[in-house]
Amino acid sequence: TLPFAGRRAFSDYSPFGRLATSPAKPAKVAVLGATGGIGQPLSLLMKLNPLVTDLALYDIRGARGVAVDLSHINTNSTVKGYAAGEEGLKATLQGADIVLIPAGVPRKPGMTRDDLFNTNASIVRDLAKAAAQYSPEANMLIISNPVNSTVPIVSEVFKARNVYNPKRLFGVTTLDVVRASRFISEVKGTDPAHHNITVAGGHSGLTIVPLLSEKYPEIVGETRDALVKRIQFGGDEVVNAKESMGSATLSMAYAGARMANSLLRARAGESGISEPAFVESPLYKAAGVDFFASEVELGPEGVKEIHALPKTNEYENELLATALQDLKANIKKGIDFTKSNP
Ligand code: NAI
Repeated sequence: TLPFAGRRAFSDYSPFGRLATSPAKPAKVAVLGATGGIGQPLSLLMKLNPLVTDLALYDIRGARGVAVDLSHINTNSTVKGYAAGEEGLKATLQGADIVLIPAGVPRKPGMTRDDLFNTNASIVRDLAKAAAQYSPEANMLIISNPVNSTVPIVSEVFKARNVYNPKRLFGVTTLDVVRASRFISEVKGTDPAHHNITVAGGHSGLTIVPLLSEKYPEIVGETRDALVKRIQFGGDEVVNAKESMGSATLSMAYAGARMANSLLRARAGESGISEPAFVESPLYKAAGVDFFASEVELGPEGVKEIHALPKTNEYENELLATALQDLKANIKKGIDFTKSNP
């Protein structure tokens, strides 16, 4: 055997996967909220991604500084940072293929993601208005919480301007699956790189539904309960450990970069690429839930296909039922907000 047999290559963990060395076609990525805890490392990872040719950074403060700093890294892409205001937004968004939005306030200990609604709803609405005007055809990747509500806000803003394309709007739930892979590897003593797990539902507490039973029927009882709870409330571990200094930023940047990279690869014509995402979905429309997170196959058009959920057991069916109730309320809250605060 080779000395390195069984070892993982860097590319197995890299958010870029295995890469061609040069981009198939130009790709502009915009980051709104680029100065923040997520925005900076996420922008760094996008600067390192060879599929990106232009990186545009926007924030209400400091985006130019971050951009000049990143622009000295010797990768091929150009980086530009813009000042707050309409002109900056326009320049950031025009021609963008992917718009990543981590703008907004993060949680402090004791807060739920829904507690962020009052502040973040209007931030996301305003950024969505600009995107509807300047980059209506871009893939919109919404990171700002509560994702279960901010994604419907973006859809309403786009609908009101007749530019909504459900194939291009994604709530970023990649971190839930990244966490699930890692936490399962800790239970099973395995390598986390290749656990391919479905985490369905939404992106907060009980709406996060790990569907483990089909792939891991051997994880049962208290071990399963603890694992499911850890995946649902993994974000709280970070919020508490950071002691009022924010929530997940580095792991989130990794997850966001993975999602963006998958879209870039699909856009370049690679097939068979799928990622979890919170999208407009047929899976539970009949139950009145229009947006739902599950494994989504990606293509040049954005969402190519929304896969059926894996086989679930009774325990998971109960988790799903609870999640659907919460989701329905979270989605309605976003839509109602946009209707009364257009
Ligand atoms: P942060 O406070 O460090 O950064 C937020 C940035 O947004 C700041 O630089 C701020 O100036 C900027 N900003 C605020 N209003 C803006 C506006 N109108 N336009 C442009 N930029 C604006 O927060 P952090 O830690 O980066 O988190 C950002 C968001 O991401 C939070 O809502 C957080 O809850 C969410 N999040 C989502 C996760 C997910 O899995 N989807 C995981 C972790 C956090």
